[in-house]
Amino acid sequence: MKLIAPSVLSADFGHLAQDLEMINRSEADWLHIDVMDGTFVPNISFGFPLMEPMRKYCTKPLDVHLMIVHPEKYVERFCDAGAWSVGFHLEAVEDPMPILDLIKAKKVRTCLTINPDIDVKRLVPYLDKVDMVLLMSVFAGFGGQKFIPETMDKIRFIRQEIDRRQLHTLIEIDGGVNTANAAELFAAGADVLVAGSAVFNAPDPSLAIHQMKQ
Ligand code: DX5
Ligand code: ZN
Repeated sequence: MKLIAPSVLSADFGHLAQDLEMINRSEADWLHIDVMDGTFVPNISFGFPLMEPMRKYCTKPLDVHLMIVHPEKYVERFCDAGAWSVGFHLEAVEDPMPILDLIKAKKVRTCLTINPDIDVKRLVPYLDKVDMVLLMSVFAGFGGQKFIPETMDKIRFIRQEIDRRQLHTLIEIDGGVNTANAAELFAAGADVLVAGSAVFNAPDPSLAIHQMKQ
């Protein structure tokens, strides 16, 4: 699959509705929503109050990426707020299984995420228990960082594992994705590419999305 999920973190929040209308008209597949708590990551983004306008103005599925401690406290509220998928970090929790069950009980898709310093093998036991895994290709916390090249081998490793076991788990890549590296990421086995600055800072965001899908 070749899906593009623009990250609203890089949108203009003074003109959120217009930016979302651009996304609606574009070839974007999902809207990626980065929630940061200032504790799991050294940055604070936004939370529930913005889920409402995003659900109201955005016609694309809302892909929620929680960069927070204690995701078990909040995943159900994000499901109720209209998330199409809810992901949280494996390294933020002791046992992801009960939290995945909370999301599944809401009939929302599940995603497990790891930062670049977490061994990709730690995802293997969960590949058949989630709808998607998200490999961070920068350290979670900020948009506009440079892609970490070591991510490529991790994508190939997870792709092999998913194919060998004939699973349908999606692989999402987040951080430093742009029109120059998208094709290579898809070729390595990624299904979904998150792109923030490469979309919203582009002179023609819809064209950037179109080019990433080629
Ligand atoms: C970073 C976020 C990303 C970020 C990507 O912590 O998870 O989704 O918005 O931004 P770019 O595409 O600019 O690296
Ligand atoms: Zn993200």
